[in-house]
Amino acid sequence: MNPSSFLTSPKNIIAVLLLLPLFSLTQETPASTELYRPQFHFTPHKGWMNDPNGMVYFNGKYHLFFQHNPDSTVWGPMHWGHAVSRDLVHWEELPIALYPDSLGTIFSGSAVIDSANTAGFGKNAMVAIYTNHNATLEKTGSDKFQNQSIAYSPDEGSSWIKYKKNPVLLNPGIRDFRDPKVFWYRPGKKWILTLATLDHITFYSSPDLKHWTEESRFGKNLGAHGGVWECPDLFALDDHGHPVWVLIVNLNPGGPNGGSATQYFTGSFDGHSFTPDDARIKWLDYGPDEYAGITWSGTGDRKIFLGWMSNWQYANRVPTQNWRSAMTLPRDLSIKKINDQYRIASLPVKEFSKTLHPVQQLSNRIVKNDLDLKSVTEGTFQLDLEGLSRTDFTIELSNTEGNKLAIGFDKKANRYFIDRTHSGSTDFSEVFAGKHVAPRLSSSQFINLKMIVDVASVELFADNGLTVMTSIFFPKQPFTNIRVKPANPLRIKELKLSKIHLPK
Ligand code: FRU
Repeated sequence: MNPSSFLTSPKNIIAVLLLLPLFSLTQETPASTELYRPQFHFTPHKGWMNDPNGMVYFNGKYHLFFQHNPDSTVWGPMHWGHAVSRDLVHWEELPIALYPDSLGTIFSGSAVIDSANTAGFGKNAMVAIYTNHNATLEKTGSDKFQNQSIAYSPDEGSSWIKYKKNPVLLNPGIRDFRDPKVFWYRPGKKWILTLATLDHITFYSSPDLKHWTEESRFGKNLGAHGGVWECPDLFALDDHGHPVWVLIVNLNPGGPNGGSATQYFTGSFDGHSFTPDDARIKWLDYGPDEYAGITWSGTGDRKIFLGWMSNWQYANRVPTQNWRSAMTLPRDLSIKKINDQYRIASLPVKEFSKTLHPVQQLSNRIVKNDLDLKSVTEGTFQLDLEGLSRTDFTIELSNTEGNKLAIGFDKKANRYFIDRTHSGSTDFSEVFAGKHVAPRLSSSQFINLKMIVDVASVELFADNGLTVMTSIFFPKQPFTNIRVKPANPLRIKELKLSKIHLPK
């Protein structure tokens, strides 16, 4: 039958109309043509994603597991999705690693390589330590619905076997009892597990990943407590040969710009307890859209951090279609002493620099009027500004639809800002539109800024990563125009605009 005669029958027309939605569902839009799909930040092919989980480096591969609801674009029964990268730039999504089971859904956690076979799962087994969340038990009114379990993979994360005697760490009756992060503490020859327990951290130790003993508790009366403590991490950074211990504690809500955010403490750890060296509240990222960030295990002294690029205030409502949420860029962490206080500096991993193709460079300029930079057709770029005078200025990103994003410095307040009030689609949440601010922590005379834009997000690394802000946005078209708008004459020592292309 030829198609035109097929469509003359009302019955056939109805059949086609009924089948059309089905057809369009199965015809997935290619990832690169979706309006808000980032080009170089990890996103799941489809479905919902939140926290990064089980990040572990082994045999030349960075594994990234993640909180995943494969069947919907909103949060739901949690699985561990899986992706790998050899260079922290290209990511390949693999089949789902962990599925919900009779003990519950699979909440956040970590993974380690058991090189000494302490657990007896085999030398170099990859072991995942995660929270089983039992929603059925929760409904009965019990407080003990979150317990820690383990699973192991004999083949680098391709297949997983859940431990028969799960759970391995039982809930004593704390409603928020989750997100185990484990590392091998060499001096004490034992595993240390850092757990978020409502409004504080509890440390446990184990010889074999199966039997856990409480070591100490930390933080009930320290740090930010505007919400529940989640997704902790404990590791040391090197300060000229001296270890500085860092305890990351994610917090939701209660962040510096509302909602979810990552705070950290610096101090010492003796294998039993963490002692802070400072009572002040410190934020790893001041923007609204970095959460649940933790570091990779298995990378030796190098500490690589990655967060979820969203905020629980509106994560379920952002206007993407086939998937929801991206991760931040992986970031290298280092420790700096600023005014006698330890601070973490974070910068995009050095591997990222191979994606950069400079398209415009200026040196030693005094900019008095607005300066238009080369347009960036893909809405992805890195802008590096060095040796800026400490005066008010704005970098405005815009498109032909009149959407704008303003990023800048306010001298009087000594603060950086990102204003997404007019950035495009904002009405999916009452709190999304707005101006977010972050203090300048550096006291150096000149400002350095690195800004990385990927279609629907900006990551701002100011003063070599001392002040960081991550923000997402949803313009009607990608931002292709960049304008430097000085309030007063602005000295720029170096400006470099680079396009970003992923090398094959
Ligand atoms: C943080 C968090 C974790 C929990 C997971 C559930 O974003 O709430 O505490 O394990 O998400 O998906």
